[in-house]
Amino acid sequence: MYTELAVLGTVSSDLRLIQEAVRTMTSGSEYEFKPAITAAGGAVRRRRHVGDRQLTARRLLFAASEANYDPDLDIDWDAAPDPDKDWLPAQRVSLYGTRLWHSLDDEQRRELGKHELVSMLSAGIYAQSILSMLMFRDIVEGDGLVDDLTRFTLASINDESRSTTMFSRLVNATGAAPYRLPGPLQRLTKLTLLAPTGPLGRGFRLLLEEMLDSVLRELAADPSIQPHVQQLTKIHVVAGARHIEFARDDLIRAIESHGPIANALHRWALAAVTAACYAVVVNPNAYRAVGINPVRGLVAALVSANYGRNARRATASFRRFTRDEGLLNGPVAGTILRLGRVG
Ligand SMILES: [Fe+2]
Repeated sequence: MYTELAVLGTVSSDLRLIQEAVRTMTSGSEYEFKPAITAAGGAVRRRRHVGDRQLTARRLLFAASEANYDPDLDIDWDAAPDPDKDWLPAQRVSLYGTRLWHSLDDEQRRELGKHELVSMLSAGIYAQSILSMLMFRDIVEGDGLVDDLTRFTLASINDESRSTTMFSRLVNATGAAPYRLPGPLQRLTKLTLLAPTGPLGRGFRLLLEEMLDSVLRELAADPSIQPHVQQLTKIHVVAGARHIEFARDDLIRAIESHGPIANALHRWALAAVTAACYAVVVNPNAYRAVGINPVRGLVAALVSANYGRNARRATASFRRFTRDEGLLNGPVAGTILRLGRVG
């Protein structure tokens, strides 16, 4: 009875939120974030209902079987790159707007963009391989083994493998060599299967998915970018949306199954990971391709205003979700995010 009342209360608060959103959209006034309130006037702590894990997995599994692309055949990998198009939008290149940027000519800027894209794709291959290892662990440690959840997990690993194949072909299409992880980080990957489960682990997975998705979505919408890149991003975002939906539900489930003290520690650690993650994207070795000293380039990139803009943009959807769900809202998490220039 209590549960039913609680559900009714949340449903009516959801209706209020929808009515409020519709009123805001139709009034023509400028959109602004207002704290949502429940029917009783209190702060909304959880806006979403997390559905049954098996049912969600079954629905997403059907969606996955509907759209199947062949990463080797559905992009014309033999086509030559367009000499007039960029590999990365200028404002996403790490040195954009700095004095070093102004010292480069147009061709060097495009070359640096290409190497930074290759660096991102290389990091994406590592990230997707790590995600797949963690998903195989979910199957081994789960108790379903032959259910829809296991099959959806396998379909997701299949999606990651397809994206990894496309990333590797795109690196080949650029003509540049991939950027391998630095030695210490490479050794750290051996500990992947020992990574903790719970809110931090689930949050980290969601962060990887959301960052990859937001960077690729922007490229998909930009006509000045190489056609190979655009085609890849269009294929990737379809599967990415499914992965994000499932990872978001999983993060909320993980939070709800832990106590307040454990959750606070997980949330602070997750805030630290969110604050630091974009720095990993900036690869000093890419500067060598245009004759810039790697240390000089790295310092210029990290202190530039462009770094904060790009870091906030790449983590925006993840931070919006965690804010709406009340996960990274406290003063400690807020301070950590601000220190990483993403708050
Ligand atoms: Fe994914």
